[in-house]
Amino acid sequence: MIPVTKSFLPPIAEYTAQVQRAYNNGWLTNRGALVLELEDKLTTYLNLEQSRILLMNNGTIPLQIALKCLAKGGEVITTPFSYVATTSTIVWEGCTPVFVDINPEYLTIDETKIEAAITDKTTCILATHVFGNPCNVEEIERIAKKHNLKVIYDGAHAFGVSYKGKSIFEYGDVTTCSFHATKLFHTGEGGAIFCKDSDLFHQLYYSHNFGHDGPLAFHGLGINGKMSELQAAMGLAVLPHMKEILRDRSSVVSWYHDCLKSDMLEVLKIRNETHWNRAYYPVLFESESLLIEVQNSLQAAGVFPRRYFYPSLTQLPYVHQSTCDIASDVSSRILCLPLFYGLSEKDVKGIASIINKF
Ligand SMILES: Cc1ncc(COP(=O)(O)O)c(C=O)c1O
Repeated sequence: MIPVTKSFLPPIAEYTAQVQRAYNNGWLTNRGALVLELEDKLTTYLNLEQSRILLMNNGTIPLQIALKCLAKGGEVITTPFSYVATTSTIVWEGCTPVFVDINPEYLTIDETKIEAAITDKTTCILATHVFGNPCNVEEIERIAKKHNLKVIYDGAHAFGVSYKGKSIFEYGDVTTCSFHATKLFHTGEGGAIFCKDSDLFHQLYYSHNFGHDGPLAFHGLGINGKMSELQAAMGLAVLPHMKEILRDRSSVVSWYHDCLKSDMLEVLKIRNETHWNRAYYPVLFESESLLIEVQNSLQAAGVFPRRYFYPSLTQLPYVHQSTCDIASDVSSRILCLPLFYGLSEKDVKGIASIINKF
């Protein structure tokens, strides 16, 4: 069976050596030595110049905290083409998602349609660097400045991506990331928030720690978003392997490029001046019926691609129905093919030959 993704598992001895450190310290959470070390190492690895990183327990809580601090119950302009967490966190925080359609090539929010969606209740833009492809960050920044809006990027897929020579995590007021087990860098469950402004960073910081200002006082409202030492242990064991993980994924992507017949399907167009991380391998079929036929054939051969992201988030039962034609169309025709460390050339050729038969 070939799943859409598989977690990278570092050698068990390397993982247990990190867990052993937590045992030796007798310290399992509350920003222990391993979390602090992972923050330092990620700051260096990601070449963060202005942004600071704060590790958290998953990639959803940072979105909630960012929305709580910046969107303040208002309307949030967002993309209909993302994982459900991008929208559910907006609703969870008592804000209203306002969907703006996507660019048909890059699949990120269509910045040319944002201004028409702004009202006097709009407080924030929450856009996803979907599949690791950057949004048009310059134009979004220009619009946000003009209308006095905050910008949050959901960078769950964007670990290691750089745009115009700068980490993608340096853009926007805040960017979040997920280190879920299925992501290319992971801590089992985990995530992070990135922010340049020191006052805002301070607010995000205490918000992820119950609002504490020392044991007896509080800065304000907070929740428990802390990463544990056991999660950080996995991150510290995975991080030294990033080079081989990325090299391997890069090979898989070029095998797909070489083997798939491009006239029957479209592949993702990556924005210029992007150093992409090969987080996903989405392909767009001519029609949903063709996608379903291909998916059935692949499944019969033990290959399990996933319909990321289907349906369009405009279809969620808890949002006001709205139409975003491009997102609905793309959602119905897109399939993510298996892509993970260790996927062999033989398997990629087998997958491509099944698809090419159609
Ligand atoms: C775009 C996007 N945002 C947010 C999340 C939520 O991250 P987590 O699963 O770490 O909570 C995911 C998870 O896959 C995602 O794909």
